[in-house]
Amino acid sequence: MFLKDKIAEKKAKIGIVGLGYVGLPLAVEMANAGFEVVGIDVDGEKVNKISEGKNYIPDLEVKTIERLVGEGHLKATNDFSIVSNLDAIIICVPTPLNKMREPDTSYIQSSINSISPYLKKGQLLILESTSYPGTTEEIILPVIKKYGLEVGKDIYVAFSPERVDPGNKKYSIKNTPKVVGGVTEKCTDIAALLYAQIAEEVVPVSSLKAAEMTKLLENIFRCVNIALVNEIMILCDRMGIDVWEVIKAASTKPFGFMPFYPGPGLGGHCIPVDPFYLSWKAKEYDFYTEFIELAGKVNQNMPYYVVSKIAESLNDVQKSIKGSKILILGVAYKRDIDDIRESPALRVIEILGQKGAFISYHDPYINKISVGDESFCSEPLSEDVLREKDCVVVITDHSNVDYELIVEKANLVVDTRNALDKFKNGNIVKI
Ligand SMILES: NC(=O)c1ccc[n+]([C@@H]2O[C@H](COP(=O)([O-])OP(=O)(O)OC[C@H]3O[C@@H](n4cnc5c(N)ncnc54)[C@H](O)[C@@H]3O)[C@@H](O)[C@H]2O)c1
Repeated sequence: MFLKDKIAEKKAKIGIVGLGYVGLPLAVEMANAGFEVVGIDVDGEKVNKISEGKNYIPDLEVKTIERLVGEGHLKATNDFSIVSNLDAIIICVPTPLNKMREPDTSYIQSSINSISPYLKKGQLLILESTSYPGTTEEIILPVIKKYGLEVGKDIYVAFSPERVDPGNKKYSIKNTPKVVGGVTEKCTDIAALLYAQIAEEVVPVSSLKAAEMTKLLENIFRCVNIALVNEIMILCDRMGIDVWEVIKAASTKPFGFMPFYPGPGLGGHCIPVDPFYLSWKAKEYDFYTEFIELAGKVNQNMPYYVVSKIAESLNDVQKSIKGSKILILGVAYKRDIDDIRESPALRVIEILGQKGAFISYHDPYINKISVGDESFCSEPLSEDVLREKDCVVVITDHSNVDYELIVEKANLVVDTRNALDKFKNGNIVKI
């Protein structure tokens, strides 16, 4: 049976390498569509959890995983030899920055090294990890060639950026168009056919690099616009203008404007990281990506701005950061998720700690965090806890928090997300 027929008839066996925030939802979507799916991960704990039908990603329902595992549609393993039984393999491993803030593609490299001994003719291999244009060509293709497989003839290779937005209830894999670019037209066609089984719309592009660049453009667009609105917010503050009111008014323009919102800084695995994949690669072409660098500078400065706002607000009530009890509300990098990667809350906590504040935090999604050498546990929100704090700082505006209680009981609230817009109490300071 040809690969295309196997895909169209949902008889293809799919392997998802990397069962994280991207890989697990994709594996579930493929399994739900009727494919037999195997998740391959080096993390034994994740493999065990899936094998037992347990879930660890908030956007997914445990019942779904339990059912798919029970039906035999979803399995997990750390044994890469399973690849020889598969028809399509999709790589979803991390792409962080190293200490020098340069791309760390070692996870892609090690996953393809583990996969490649088991590759065989007639398979489809797709990379979904976000990276600079040229990654698939430079890292994946040479390893495949080493095993004597001709791409486009023996094996099909494509890149398809993952656009999942954790916590987003409106847009899922299903109703978010999927961009696909293959090495050859046939590679693109087969990869597009696979994604068409789970996504309502597939957008083929002409090359691997075009697909890789698409993802970076999307994330750089957000990073630059967030930096712009952060800068406007700081200016508005100095001029005594409410930036939130301005954004709301500007958003009424039906064309040519799209709202972005200021905040305590960028977080997550994507927006603070991905732009630097491109600026690093651009240097190879004697090109300096000024917008990315500038946006990075503005956004990285935001936690310091938040701390200066806290200092100013405490000063107004004859207090200093040193010795004050400060409760950070929300440490996840964004609303309604449990991910703290690159979260600005961690930076704010670190700076406040260095200045001598007594820090605690509350986050309904995260029980424990470590910042430097210090560990913290989420403190339950109660009247007594709120009363004893000198300041509560809203860093992440989770929707399942009792903001009314906070506004009523806290002595001072610094709100970095406009979460308290509807309250007019005098103890609220907006950034
Ligand atoms: N999280 C997001 O919102 C998001 C959105 C779009 C794109 N992306 C991109 O998707 C990719 C994956 O991100 P994520 O958030 O899912 O990461 P993650 O850290 O949540 O998951 C990655 C998984 O890969 C596993 N892994 C690491 N090395 C491996 C190897 N050699 N073989 C097999 N498994 C391995 C890890 O154990 C982990 O379970 C990244 O490139 C990221 O930039 C992420």
